[in-house]
Amino acid sequence: MIISSATDYREAARRKLPPFLFHYLDGGAGTETTLRANVDDLQQVNLRQRVLKGSEELDLSTEWFGVKQDLPLALAPVGLAGMYARRGEVQAARVAAERNIPFIQSTVSVCPLKEVAEHSPRPLWCQLYVLKDRGFMRDYLQRARELGIRTLVFTVDMPVPGARYRDAHSGMSGRNGPLRRVLQAMLHPRWALDVGVLGKPHDLGNISAYRGNPTGLADYLGWLAANFDPGIDWNDLQWIRDEWPGPMVIKGILDAQDAREAKSFGADGIVVSNHGGRQLDGALSTARALPMIAEAVKGDLTIFADSGVRTGLDVVRLLALGADGVLIGRAFVYALAASGAAGVRNLLVILEKDIRTSMVLTGVKSVRDIGADILA
Ligand code: GLV
Repeated sequence: MIISSATDYREAARRKLPPFLFHYLDGGAGTETTLRANVDDLQQVNLRQRVLKGSEELDLSTEWFGVKQDLPLALAPVGLAGMYARRGEVQAARVAAERNIPFIQSTVSVCPLKEVAEHSPRPLWCQLYVLKDRGFMRDYLQRARELGIRTLVFTVDMPVPGARYRDAHSGMSGRNGPLRRVLQAMLHPRWALDVGVLGKPHDLGNISAYRGNPTGLADYLGWLAANFDPGIDWNDLQWIRDEWPGPMVIKGILDAQDAREAKSFGADGIVVSNHGGRQLDGALSTARALPMIAEAVKGDLTIFADSGVRTGLDVVRLLALGADGVLIGRAFVYALAASGAAGVRNLLVILEKDIRTSMVLTGVKSVRDIGADILA
């Protein structure tokens, strides 16, 4: 099929993947109001069209925590990426390194940190949830440090998993889930060969590295539900701040007061995010929350944003609304599912081209200069 955008990759992924995996990636919480609002509100952000500004030489590079980035993008932490393509985290991390942007490895990845780090010529960033098992958290941070990881992304918007109704219908959870998943795999032979046969072990790599025995994917959602800690508060994060010497980014901030809290707690950055509409349905879209948060902490914290990004123009829109960088989640996994590393590589080319076009048409020369003055 013809691929010209992330939306095309979504369709390619839909055809290739067993439905339980497609819907787990594609879906959101509840009636998916926030999921839709993320995309719709972002697309409603108008930019000023400017002319004759001589924007031939464009600079798409930026710097976060003292490290140069060639694009204002990072690949977001997405659980189970290794179920979407063979050793998916390794493939995506390699492409991120080629493009000199961060790959943020999820705690609940298929490939363990070590495997991905060994294949990535650029240091990874790693993501961690607040889990009941603090022993696991300490062990994970220790492993990350030993692998030379400097930047930690701490996800705080998942004290409980959101209500994902699609998962029950798709076979990801619910009655007869295991049987339905096997049947779906048989009906999707390209995926079954790439991931089902050649992509083993299908494991939660970081969890089994800690436990010393394989952690089956069959109980993935059960594991999440049992291990997330709804009692967590800022005080609980303090020991991690004290223990982690490098930059620490708090992911899942949607409120200006929480952004100030993150700052006083000693965070270096935040990700303005509603977890891609997967947590609180009815929460504000990122496009609506970001300006208030930027007003509260811009310049004090490095502000990342995600949720609803499908084009390079969307990236420019989030930068204009106050972000210093943008995380790409679903979009890169659609591309990964459709065509592996080649898909992610091509998606980044598409996004880059689109960012360049948007910059010329709004008359800006450097992504670092993108701000509210290009909003219409
Ligand atoms: C995990 O982070 C999920 O959104 O399912």
